[in-house]
Amino acid sequence: MSATQTRSITRVLNGERLWPPPIWMMRQAGRYLPEYRATRALKPDFLQFCYETELAVEVTLQPIRRYGFDAAILFSDIFVVPDALGYPVRFEEGRGPVLEPLTHDLVAKLDQARTKEHLAPVIETLRRLRQELPQETSLLGFCGAPWTVACYSVAGHTTPDQVAARVGAYRDPELMQAFIDALVTASIDYLCRQLDAGAEAVQIFDTWAGVLDEEGFRRWSIEPTARIVAGVKARVPDAKVIGFPKNSAARLKDYIAGTGVDAVGLDWTVPVGLAREIQKIVPVQGNLDPMRLVAGGAALDEGVDQVLDALGDGPLIFNLGHGVTPEVDPENVKRMIDRVRARA
Ligand code: CP3
Repeated sequence: MSATQTRSITRVLNGERLWPPPIWMMRQAGRYLPEYRATRALKPDFLQFCYETELAVEVTLQPIRRYGFDAAILFSDIFVVPDALGYPVRFEEGRGPVLEPLTHDLVAKLDQARTKEHLAPVIETLRRLRQELPQETSLLGFCGAPWTVACYSVAGHTTPDQVAARVGAYRDPELMQAFIDALVTASIDYLCRQLDAGAEAVQIFDTWAGVLDEEGFRRWSIEPTARIVAGVKARVPDAKVIGFPKNSAARLKDYIAGTGVDAVGLDWTVPVGLAREIQKIVPVQGNLDPMRLVAGGAALDEGVDQVLDALGDGPLIFNLGHGVTPEVDPENVKRMIDRVRARA
């Protein structure tokens, strides 16, 4: 039996219930850790930091060393894909990602051929990680869902409720479709390469799926994700894909049926009863409110217990309902992990 088959994350993704559940945390390599901030200071340009294999390996390993999470997630960002295609992307200090506003001209210039070389350092990061990680630790890859990546390109930056992206998609759906199509093609190739390089499963982050209306959700979230899942599985038949359509509780069943993902990440707003129904269809991941990790103390303990009580009887990967935030005290992360594992 290969090591992969015995790793806890894969066992849960195959439908097994493990107790205690395996645990990792979205954005686990990040600014709440002093060692991350120290490494990050070596490269002020965030995208360059993502392409620096040695530094990316180092920050991916930091939360594994400190906490012994059951999975490491590749350190990178969702915007390396448009960047690799030649779409103008940059990160501004204190403002986050800034993308050039979407135009037909920019989409016409996207170049699939340049992604292979451009993303090679990220693929190398995965290869190195698989060598350096403890045998029992899973390695996860990821990409942004096309809609979430596209959201930042319409306004040029993030806006509340993605008003600009939604208006843009109604005014010029052909333009949105052309950009999404390019992202689908590039994401399939990127995820397959991640799996070839040693990723055991991949997660598709659709942080902004929840702002769409019903038709939009089908066209901009489900359809492109379904094409990515099918494209990846056509090349890597045993690939495991976790979908994370945030703020989409009412549409999770449609999303699972429509996309073919193997598991879903639940955000913290998903009601317990619904989460249990979802878990009868596919393994679930989640869903502690990241603000309980900020608050700490009894609020954190109660939140951990609520997730375990709600979902502990079925296939569960313990996680947050969204990424950990910079103000979190690293001691609270330890407290969360200890509490999950103490329930064994
Ligand atoms: O989870 C991990 O530890 C792996 C690394 C990872 C990052 N971004 C590193 C990062 C992952 C999986 C992401 C995904 C990502 N990036 C998403 C989807 C998930 C989510 O959180 O909603 C999105 C929407 C982005 C885009 C993005 N990257 C934004 C909006 C920002 C700025 C806001 C912020 O948190 O600073 C980033 C920057 C970013 N990506 C940082 C990290 C650690 C912080 C930048 C820094 O160190 O200066």
